Parts: sequence; C-alpha cells; structure tokens
Amino acid sequence: MKNNSLFISLEGIDGCGKSSLIEKLITRLAQHSVLCIREPGGTVISEKIRDMLLDIKNKGIIPRTEALLYMAARSQLVEEIINPGLAAGKIVLADRYIDSTVAYQGYGRGLEINLLKTLNQFCTGGLKPHLTLLLDITPEEGERRRRTDIPDRLEKEGITFQEKVREGYLQLAREEPDRIKIIDAAKEIEAVADEAMHYIQPLLDKDPS
Ligand code: TMP
Repeated sequence: MKNNSLFISLEGIDGCGKSSLIEKLITRLAQHSVLCIREPGGTVISEKIRDMLLDIKNKGIIPRTEALLYMAARSQLVEEIINPGLAAGKIVLADRYIDSTVAYQGYGRGLEINLLKTLNQFCTGGLKPHLTLLLDITPEEGERRRRTDIPDRLEKEGITFQEKVREGYLQLAREEPDRIKIIDAAKEIEAVADEAMHYIQPLLDKDPS
C-alpha cells in the first residue's frame, strides 16, 4: 500500500515564530491531509501534563522531573495521535518534538545530553521526523516578539537560558544536517514560509512506493 505520510517538526527558542509558520504551512499544504499537533499536549493526558509544566506556580519542578514529564506527554502523543496519523497517510506537523527536550532540558538545564537522547528513543519507539525545521532567532528578538504575551514558567527563564537553548539547537543541527534544516526566522513570515516549503516540497514530490 502506498503511504504519502510525512512527519515534520518545528523547533526553536521561545518567540521564534512557530505558530505563525504553522498557519502559513496549513494554507500552503491545503491540498494535503495535515494533522497539526503541539508539544507538550495533544491528548487528554498530555494536556494535563502541559498545564502542570507551564504553570508558573510550579516553581518546585526539578530539571529531571521536567524532562520526564515532557517525555511522558510525548509518548502518549506518539501512541495516540502521531503513529495513527502517519499510518493513515497524513502529513503530521508537530509544534516541538524530541529536539526540544535535548535543547531545553539538556543544553538549557544541563541534564546529560546522551541520556536524554536515549530517553527520547524510549518514549517515541525511535520515531524521528523526516524533516525538522529549526527557526533560528536571537533570544533578544524572541523576547521582543513575546512582549505582549503572559510568560509561562519556561518563558520566564530569561535571555541567558534562551541563548543556551539556541546553541543547543544549532549543535543538534550540525549533528543531523540531513534532518534538521536551519531557517533564519528573523526574516518576514512569507520568506520563512517560502524557505520551509523549499525543504518540504521535495519530500512531497518523492515517490512513496
Ligand atoms: P510553546 O507552546 O510556546 O512552544 O511552549 C512550550 C514550552 O515548553 C517552551 O518554553 C519550550 C518548553 N519545552 C521544553 O522545555 N521541553 C520540551 O521537551 C518541550 C516539548 C517543550
């Protein structure tokens, strides 16, 4: 059976413009069956974990707990939503996935990178995106864009934390250049969407047989 499924994740520091890009991609991929998900969240259990993780009152969450909660939300999402979506031939568009944990809890919080990668493999059953678009932006620009939002628990971490996360993402892109493509997210949104489609289109054109 032919299956045109495609798994694309969007990554980047807070304020990098993932939500705006997703809106554009939904329009540009309108002739396809697209399933959009966001992490943490996307299932009943994962949304409950999301509330716990992002609640600014939960100051006591230690980095290891934080990492495991993100992973728990992710395994539920893979099983309930992502795998069935891919099996049905959809394009799954994920707002964050495995690289977020390595960038935020690994490079940002200082947890052991290789251990997080192993745990990611465990909680996803080894499922990696075909393509990951890394929206790269300076923490200062990310913060400027978020100025009108009410910051969640992680967004309150400040510029130094975001800088570490950004460096982590760039390191991951150097390690997996075939999967992770860096896009300059300081550009205006149509140009960002053009560049995203430049990477997505060849995968759509590929013969799935
Ligand atoms: P967002 O919905 O604005 O992308 O917010 C999710 C927040 O959670 C963001 O600050 C990044 C953070 N996060 C992690 O720290 N680790 C993870 O594994 C994931 C998926 C998100």
